[in-house]
Amino acid sequence: MDIKTYIGNLINIKDLDFDFTSLVSEVVDKQNGDYCLPCFSLAKTMKKSPVQIAEEIKANFPTDKLISKIEVVNGYVNFFLNKAEYSKIILNEINSEKIFEPNSEFINKVACVEYSSVNLAKYMHIGHLSTTIIGESLARINEALGFKVIRINYIGDYGTPFGKMVYAYLNWGSEEELEKNGIDCLQGLYVDFCKRAETDTELEEKAREYFKLIDEKDSKVYPVYQKFIEISKQEAKNLLDKLDVHFDSWKGESAYSDELSNVLKMLDDKKLLTSSEGAKIVDLEQYNLGKCLIQKSDGTSLYASRDIAAAIDRFNTYKFDKMLYVTAVQQKLHFQQFFKVLELLGFDFAKTLTHVYYGMFSLPNGKIASRKGKQAVLKDLMEYSYNKAYQMVENRNFDESKKQEIANKIANSALKFNAIKNERIKDTVFDIENAFSFEGDTSAYIQYTYTRISSIIKKANIKIDINKVDYNFLSSDVAFNLVLMANNYPELLLKAMQQNEPSILSKYLLELCKQINKFYTSEKVVTENEQSTHTKLYLLENLKKLLTKLFHLVIIETVEEM
Ligand code: ARG
Repeated sequence: MDIKTYIGNLINIKDLDFDFTSLVSEVVDKQNGDYCLPCFSLAKTMKKSPVQIAEEIKANFPTDKLISKIEVVNGYVNFFLNKAEYSKIILNEINSEKIFEPNSEFINKVACVEYSSVNLAKYMHIGHLSTTIIGESLARINEALGFKVIRINYIGDYGTPFGKMVYAYLNWGSEEELEKNGIDCLQGLYVDFCKRAETDTELEEKAREYFKLIDEKDSKVYPVYQKFIEISKQEAKNLLDKLDVHFDSWKGESAYSDELSNVLKMLDDKKLLTSSEGAKIVDLEQYNLGKCLIQKSDGTSLYASRDIAAAIDRFNTYKFDKMLYVTAVQQKLHFQQFFKVLELLGFDFAKTLTHVYYGMFSLPNGKIASRKGKQAVLKDLMEYSYNKAYQMVENRNFDESKKQEIANKIANSALKFNAIKNERIKDTVFDIENAFSFEGDTSAYIQYTYTRISSIIKKANIKIDINKVDYNFLSSDVAFNLVLMANNYPELLLKAMQQNEPSILSKYLLELCKQINKFYTSEKVVTENEQSTHTKLYLLENLKKLLTKLFHLVIIETVEEM
């Protein structure tokens, strides 16, 4: 329930028409109450001291079964909730799943979320985890609120790197090696090309020539390129499957290169296009956004022109109400530029576009030496994590396939959780050595908490009888704090969506788990007292439901035992 609005609506002061809801907030130190209303901002309008106002609010507050006590302290009105009544409402809202219901404001609205968007024929590396996991989490968060979400992987399947690879393959590559080694072979060809180009100055020109042949769908060169795309797309799909990330559209950059002439025409019609050293640009200096490059001097399309075409195409296809682009902060200017160009072209949807940017996510120097580039390759990172996770369960009494299943879930969840644990704009160095511990701010700790709840419920082996539930057994500080925290879910979910910030939920989940641990270490759940047992088990069952939901939103996998 929205307790802040509930309290806000009950507050009334004679002759003052004011919405108090926004002033109601949760009290940190629960000794002083559960929710409070600071009266300082009202002093000016009401020409009274905050203490006088607080007293007046207290005096006028109606008797209500949810509020057990009101105190005035230093200009604050402090509200104490009736613990049993409140627990009953909140736990029943979780049990009936009412708390998880979508927000009527967003039902039938469409959100496009574009993320991952890897440049193909290269290894996916640790940096791709950020876009992939932040994007997937945002997709799930929006979905949970009622949006119909379209997941788009705008693959980088266009550009001179493909000219390089195709040239290298046709001149010194081997079909046999390509069949055998797939992406490794492609990456090898690319690196090889770059090495040779250091001494052979003609190679760069060759790459451009071959890329042009790809662009013109040349009968000899184009099929080779297509094969490369297939191989690397499959590679990306396999990795994404393991991370439980799946897309509705894989329409990539190459699909929009032919749109260049349309883009040019639209810009020309609006007199937005100017020439600069043979290239075509939109001058955005007056908006402090520099120059947006639309067409290269050789007549080919550019990153921005393809993005303009892609946005228009997506709007025509999906009629989205908003679109998110989850891409590194380094590309900020690019997004600002083409959003502006779309606005100048008169597309209303331009104001519904958001660049969701994030900082650098990396390993400490020298960790997991990468194969060719500077960053750790995702495949290697997953393997390393798996081995670490396997060590955690190696000596457990499970059969081999179970151990592997659990190790996989621990390993992948650790990678995913670390990519969204901190505010997305922060640069994060991934502390991989401590990510696999059942203690600390780790996903393993979260998963462990879930298994503990499961095991308490399982061991109790009792079918909960709601008639035996007496909410007075949840009046201890630890137990009631869990109820208070659980009810923060809808507000935090909304906030995570509004700020495009999954870490709001990952932090909440961690804190919730800490409090759950506190609860079952300080209170016996199963005791001689039947009513107490049923009540506490009911609390745990509902917390388990809430955890399951949060796991889904931050893409952690549940493990029943570990
Ligand atoms: N493929 C690009 C890269 O790896 C990211 C694409 C971002 N999305 C976009 N619509 N431009 O840098």
